[in-house]
Amino acid sequence: MQIAFFNTKLYERDWYERHQGHHQIHFFDEPLTPYHVSLAEGCRAVCASVNDNLCKLTLEGLKKAGVEVVALRCAGLDNVDLGAAERLGITVINVPGYSPFAVAEHAVTLLLALLRQLPEARSRIGRGNFSLDGLVGTELHRKTVGVIGTGHIGRAFCQIMQGFGCKVLAYDVRPQAKLVDIGLQYVSLEEVLQESDVVALHCPFNEQTRYLIDDRKLAQMKPSAILVNTSRGKLVDTDALLAALNRGKLAGYATDVYENEASWFGKDWSMEGVADERLNQLRRHPRVLMTAHQGFLTAEALEQIGRSLLNKLSFFEGQRAEGVTKASMC
Ligand code: NAI
Repeated sequence: MQIAFFNTKLYERDWYERHQGHHQIHFFDEPLTPYHVSLAEGCRAVCASVNDNLCKLTLEGLKKAGVEVVALRCAGLDNVDLGAAERLGITVINVPGYSPFAVAEHAVTLLLALLRQLPEARSRIGRGNFSLDGLVGTELHRKTVGVIGTGHIGRAFCQIMQGFGCKVLAYDVRPQAKLVDIGLQYVSLEEVLQESDVVALHCPFNEQTRYLIDDRKLAQMKPSAILVNTSRGKLVDTDALLAALNRGKLAGYATDVYENEASWFGKDWSMEGVADERLNQLRRHPRVLMTAHQGFLTAEALEQIGRSLLNKLSFFEGQRAEGVTKASMC
């Protein structure tokens, strides 16, 4: 099958080139937007990333170009207008549940680095400053960690926190009995926010979770708490977050995501500069530790994403060859 691969990054191109098998992959650096759909002309499939824009206009353009299936090399589907895809008869494939440890471990990495002031320590060492004043850290042992969303990644994160000797509280719209069996305590969202020293977001972005953490929720948290967000930027109201940090109502923010990240992440802006005042405040804030959506970026996860995606595309192709018209493969 001919596949138009959008938003191609060096770290993934090599793997797909080696494993494309009978598929023919055409790599484009461009993101997938309504303005770039013509690049998919002649391809039955497109492969898109987390920051591509699969709105109704894009999907209509893809349909006109002859595209039958959109394959997302990510877990979330929040950047796709699923209603429009269904109306247009375009099948949408994603890769839920690939190595949840990649993201969970990244969340833990950010959290520990913030708690032990590693960015400041590293910068001092680089300057030849070996003093320790101002570097007093905080331990995780015996702290209360609140987890919002206990699916694949949330569960892995909870288990790591249990290993650190933390008490883990959880909130999920669909609590899982098997997690209670391993010592998780499900409580209300309010209780998670009020009781926790660390609050970690592991739920998807949708209309119900937009600005899940706003000024009202931030006011319920302990002023000494750390918020961890490796899920989606739009779960957090950045203005409210910055205000809480600046007023001493929150101790720190460890994040892998930003609400307007699609415009910035994935590219080097060091020469041109970043023309986004909120992002600039966040990335320069002494109590914020930010990475640019790299939670998934491990060799193991890339391998699982690639294999799962190419298998699903081959399966789709096989179904079409046998005359099966409706494929639900998410
Ligand atoms: P999952 O679908 O396995 O789990 C999500 C959990 O959130 C489910 O248990 C669900 O019931 C719960 N949930 C849904 N709405 C909720 C709400 N309003 N309040 C509380 N809980 C709610 O998803 P998975 O694989 O664990 O991924 C979680 C999120 O992590 C993804 O949606 C995505 O946004 C993000 N992600 C980030 C990556 C990164 O590189 N930073 C990579 C992969 C995923």
